[in-house]
Amino acid sequence: MAAAAAAAAARSLARSRGGPPAASPARGPRPRANLTSLAGLSRGKKVALTTLGVLTAGGAGLALALHTAVNAGELELHPPNFPWSHHGMLSSLDHSSVRRGYQVYKQVCSACHSMEYLAFRNLIGVSHTEAEAKALAEEAEVLDGPNEDGEMFTRPGKLSDYFPKPYPNPEAARAANNGALPPDLSYIVNARHGGEDYVFSLLTGYCDPPGGVSLREGLYYNPFFPGEAIGMAPPIYNEILEYEDGTPATMSQIAKDVCTFLRWAAEPEHDHRKRMGLKMMLIMGMLLPLIYYLKRHRWSVLKSRKIAYRPPK
Ligand code: HEC
Repeated sequence: MAAAAAAAAARSLARSRGGPPAASPARGPRPRANLTSLAGLSRGKKVALTTLGVLTAGGAGLALALHTAVNAGELELHPPNFPWSHHGMLSSLDHSSVRRGYQVYKQVCSACHSMEYLAFRNLIGVSHTEAEAKALAEEAEVLDGPNEDGEMFTRPGKLSDYFPKPYPNPEAARAANNGALPPDLSYIVNARHGGEDYVFSLLTGYCDPPGGVSLREGLYYNPFFPGEAIGMAPPIYNEILEYEDGTPATMSQIAKDVCTFLRWAAEPEHDHRKRMGLKMMLIMGMLLPLIYYLKRHRWSVLKSRKIAYRPPK
């Protein structure tokens, strides 16, 4: 009762002197909590904070240890970073390489792998002219129909047809490949860690299994494939084909060309994307300073005002 009265008196005194109203005069002035030090915390809170810190650090350490342990368990090689000619910020795909890569796909990979999201018309202006793409399409036999008699028939392919599939269904593909399913290659470089680096390493990385490792019938040793035993026989070797532009068809050249082709297939917007990026940087370089100036201009009234406290007389 007496304390409350004293507090009220102290408060009215403070107000009449013009000082800021004391928050809790009964307990005396409290030191301002310093946010950067823990000095203002009670003992219990300090203990709780320390426990939390130790638990967090321990948990993170455990997670990291488990993660590296799991990584060490997978013994396959990680592909190196190859200096692809299209890896620069402003570098386009090498379109002669895309064209050669299509030849590799058509003459080698298409025996087992489908590319069901690519149509012959997609090649126009990228690797082939319209007449060339038409000729390529016509080589394919496409099942169409039904005709007036209700029967299916085959016809030569058109530009709008998709690449022919080697097998009618996944079961047939497995049956022909010792139970392994050759994946569709349309998006393969986006579907695998390492992208074209991985596919290149996979194609050129076949070797004899290390001592003590024996493989089941129909499997091949490849240190880049997860599990190291792959169901695909080494698909390419030196001079497996003859390039129509006369490029020497070494194994690494063939792998590089088919990887460039697969990169284009998975990312047909690649060149357009980089050109748009350059345009955006140039336009933003001009627009951003302008916008910044305008912002300073518009806000100058608010930013330069002063707020003063005038105590009542
Ligand atoms: C004789 C058939 C055959 C040919 C020809 C062939 N492949 Fe394969 N490929 C397979 C099979 C089967 C698999 C599945 C392997 C597995 O899962 O063990 C496969 C898997 C792959 C994979 C996926 C590997 C992964 O990480 O899952 C890629 C990429 C690949 N092939 C690329 C190619 C390329 C590029 C060519 C052409 C140069 C080619 N293949 C030619 C049969 C073939």
